Amino acid sequence: MNREEAILRELNLYPLWQRRGQAKPVCEQEAAAAQPIIEQVTSQSVMEKAGLQNLASCNWPELKALVKNCTACKLRAGCTQTVFGMGDVRADWLFVGEWPGADEDVQGEPFVGQSGKLLDNILAAIKLKRGHNVYITNTVKCYPPGNRTPEANEIAQCVPYLERQIQLIQPKLIVALGETAALLLGYDAALPDLRGKLHNYRGLSSHSLDKDIPLIITYHPTDLLHTPLNKAKAWDDLCLAVATMQRLV
Ligand code: URA
Repeated sequence: MNREEAILRELNLYPLWQRRGQAKPVCEQEAAAAQPIIEQVTSQSVMEKAGLQNLASCNWPELKALVKNCTACKLRAGCTQTVFGMGDVRADWLFVGEWPGADEDVQGEPFVGQSGKLLDNILAAIKLKRGHNVYITNTVKCYPPGNRTPEANEIAQCVPYLERQIQLIQPKLIVALGETAALLLGYDAALPDLRGKLHNYRGLSSHSLDKDIPLIITYHPTDLLHTPLNKAKAWDDLCLAVATMQRLV
């Protein structure tokens, strides 16, 4: 089993989940089978400690507290603090990255290191600014030791928090940064097959969203730092994002 399949299996989505990169919608029955992720995956003891019934009904301060106090996987023991996300909680734009790096671990905010500088420039290029009608978060909220890739079970414990953030923000458009972010939002294919087109995010559990949210997948800023040639393609993706948003508002 490859890493993608392992992650999807941890999320109860494998082999039920269809590759959306191939534009195959999840069938209703399969979505129902995958439904109880939010309640099941996040450690019950985390909810109990917080005196909450389930994640799907918690409000923003409750969710923040849950993430802050989460010990559902071993990542929390090795990081300085959780990195919940930052910005406008009623934003039209939601940018989703992968996991906090060392700088983010120290500052407690997503994308504050080198890749964050590039993300800020990307935002500026499309006339957006961190915190203004933009929310930025990651799929995993804790810095993994040595910036290693989080394990499938660590990701699975954390993804329900992201899903609840999406439910609460109800952004008009989601921009997933990189293949891992896309995978965690249910899109399992190589980035070149996923970028450059409009997807529909319908949540990882069937009750999660009232309506689909348009989603665009593009290169992670760190990839762009390593492979500047991809910047032109990223720019195309961002133009698509801007055009999509113009249609939506
Ligand atoms: N990379 C990410 O995906 N997120 C961050 O917050 C920082 C670097």
